[in-house]
Amino acid sequence: MPNLYSPLIYLLLFVHLCHSSGHLELTIKSPWIQQAAVGLYQPSAPFGNIHSLILHGNEQQTLRFPVNFTENAKVVITVGGSPNFGLQNSRFETVVVPENGKVLTPEDVPAPFNAFRIAFECDANFHGEHCAQMCNEQVAEQYGKRCNTAGFPSCPRGFMGRECTDPIRQELCPCKNGGQCATSFLSNSQEVPLCECPRGFFGPICQSEKTVEKVEIKTEYTPELRYVPQIIAKHYESMKMRNELIASVKKRVNISVDRSRRRMV
Ligand SMILES: *[C@@H]1O[C@H](CO)[C@@H](O)[C@H](O)[C@H]1NC(C)=O
Ligand SMILES: *[C@@H]1O[C@H](CO)[C@@H](O)[C@H](O)[C@H]1NC(C)=O
Repeated sequence: MPNLYSPLIYLLLFVHLCHSSGHLELTIKSPWIQQAAVGLYQPSAPFGNIHSLILHGNEQQTLRFPVNFTENAKVVITVGGSPNFGLQNSRFETVVVPENGKVLTPEDVPAPFNAFRIAFECDANFHGEHCAQMCNEQVAEQYGKRCNTAGFPSCPRGFMGRECTDPIRQELCPCKNGGQCATSFLSNSQEVPLCECPRGFFGPICQSEKTVEKVEIKTEYTPELRYVPQIIAKHYESMKMRNELIASVKKRVNISVDRSRRRMV
């Protein structure tokens, strides 16, 4: 029988399976001064969460939206007039499946932006693909433990056992593709093996590779009428975004692509 006063029992009080808790981070930049509105829409929040901002002079701006990781997220960006670009307004729309660590960057940054990036990240102390597993890092640390990638208390890397004094027995988990053998302490205080997979791999022994699908972004441009006849007043484009799955969003990718010289007309 586990001793009720053991630190491990106390630690497990801080582990819950609960609602997902994470956010979407949108980063945009434009060489021109203009107004923009960004909305995030999900089936459980159909009226959206809308932010407005002023883009100015090549200054990168980042907006954060709380996201329900169990539903698709629709991002809609509308940008006001860009006289330098010959536009009355433009609109961008994309639907993304949220996943912790997913980073999307367009293959070709849509004008009038010159940087565009969407990233998903769990809030502090939430873990897992859907940010649904809570494990308090600070509490874990107080007890000489850590939170593993699945969001359970675990020993420091390379160790196992209640007091984390035994070297990990590699034969417990035959991890593939560079996965690392670790253990999880479950709520019944059992210790079970687990493979912690590198980015891009999943499955009990990291045997499966994630499909990195490309995500479509639809754009709609309304040029200034002095440039085009009314009959072709709207211009639609569709482009793809690269999907980069990264283990930690702290590792930033380079997103600048200078398209400021491109003009519609
Ligand atoms: C998140 O989405 C799921 C699935 O649609 C829904 O059941 C749940 O209530 C949503 N959570 C919140 C906090 O809106
Ligand atoms: C990003 O770009 C800068 C400037 O071009 C370069 O110095 C830096 O090494 C790049 N970083 C990465 C991670 O590629």
